[in-house]
Amino acid sequence: MLSGKNILIGITGGIAAYKICELIRMYKRMNANVRVVCTPNALNFVTKLTLQNLSQNDVGVEEFNIEQYKPEHISYADEADIMVIAPATANTIGKIANGICDNLLTSVVCAFNKPIIIAPAMNCGMWENEFVQENIMKLVNAGFYIMEPESGFLACGYEGKGRLCSLDKIYDKTVELLSVNKILSGKKVVITSGGTIEAIDTVRYISNYSSGKMGAALADVAYEMGADVILITTKDVQKPYGVVKVKSAIDMKDAVEREYDSSDCIIMAAAVADYRAKNIADYKMKKSESNEISIELIKNPDILKSLCEMKQKEAVAVGKGSSVLNIEPHKSPVIVGFCAESENLMENAKIKIAKKGCDYLIANDISRKDIGFSSDYNEVSVISKSGTIKNLSKATKKEIAKQIFEEIYG
Ligand code: CTP
Repeated sequence: MLSGKNILIGITGGIAAYKICELIRMYKRMNANVRVVCTPNALNFVTKLTLQNLSQNDVGVEEFNIEQYKPEHISYADEADIMVIAPATANTIGKIANGICDNLLTSVVCAFNKPIIIAPAMNCGMWENEFVQENIMKLVNAGFYIMEPESGFLACGYEGKGRLCSLDKIYDKTVELLSVNKILSGKKVVITSGGTIEAIDTVRYISNYSSGKMGAALADVAYEMGADVILITTKDVQKPYGVVKVKSAIDMKDAVEREYDSSDCIIMAAAVADYRAKNIADYKMKKSESNEISIELIKNPDILKSLCEMKQKEAVAVGKGSSVLNIEPHKSPVIVGFCAESENLMENAKIKIAKKGCDYLIANDISRKDIGFSSDYNEVSVISKSGTIKNLSKATKKEIAKQIFEEIYG
């Protein structure tokens, strides 16, 4: 799996730096090309000579080598297929999360546009520090792969969470990321996620419990599989691909339709509210004297259905011979819907795919507490227009997302 792959290891100044010597050997044993960049402080814990010998390459530390200056951060970033930063100190994590590039390692990270694994290791109090956690969340949202530290006896004498995770875990993650099948390369994939927010007045709204996690997992996986991704979401997220923030079903419909012509695949994973308030007050409504009030609701547009109708119209236009005009017909996107049901899942899903007219429908049971809304896990069935059904057993939402794309494009 790793043979011929270019792995760039970044080592920062923590005691766990000594463990990375073994990680280099693990990659080298599998015939990977390993290069190492260190922060100057890392060399307090491990020598340059050791790292040079193990990696069989020069080790980069200084960004501005005056005698022989070349912008090395660019060549390190260009050559590698993946970067693994281990151990990552709170200091380096903070710099990366805030775009600071004050040494070779942080400059390489800033210029790097392929997967980056970060394995933090530090004192347990530092790991729990709210700013460190904020920075970690920033990195997670930006698409970095964080290998959570483990609990146990720490080199500083404390007992707690902060130890570098096992080298096997870092190694396995490297293999996993380097073996992703780039089946979506050259394709534009548009995904919606989150529950829509339908205003009642300036401070109140109607929404639902959708966490947006399944849509975000699909978008992350599509990106890893090489797609040009647009995530249209009601949630606040930072991602290494395009994100369009929307609120209501109407906003979402506009945003998706704007992408329709240029997309190869549209996945409606959002929980779109079926109804919205008929009249939205442009002030905060006052409490009434009565014990009851009514809010009049009107139906929202069915985004998925209208996308399928657009596709249907294109098929008819092509059928009528738009090619006679010598115009290359627009290649309609594959349209995928989700089907959230709390009872009679498969029965309702089959009715829904026919009613909506989409190419695939992903059926998931939202009555189960261990999967679906808010959970990191899901279990779904992928139903195709032609009637095939593929059941995907319970797995993380990312794993389910991967299997959905493999089912559609594999
Ligand atoms: N959907 C949509 N626009 C709506 C409602 C739903 O695009 N106004 C999409 C969802 O994003 C999902 C699919 O339609 O991909 C099915 O959503 P679901 O809530 O399961 O079904 P509904 O069409 O809303 O029907 P019901 O609530 O009666 O089950």
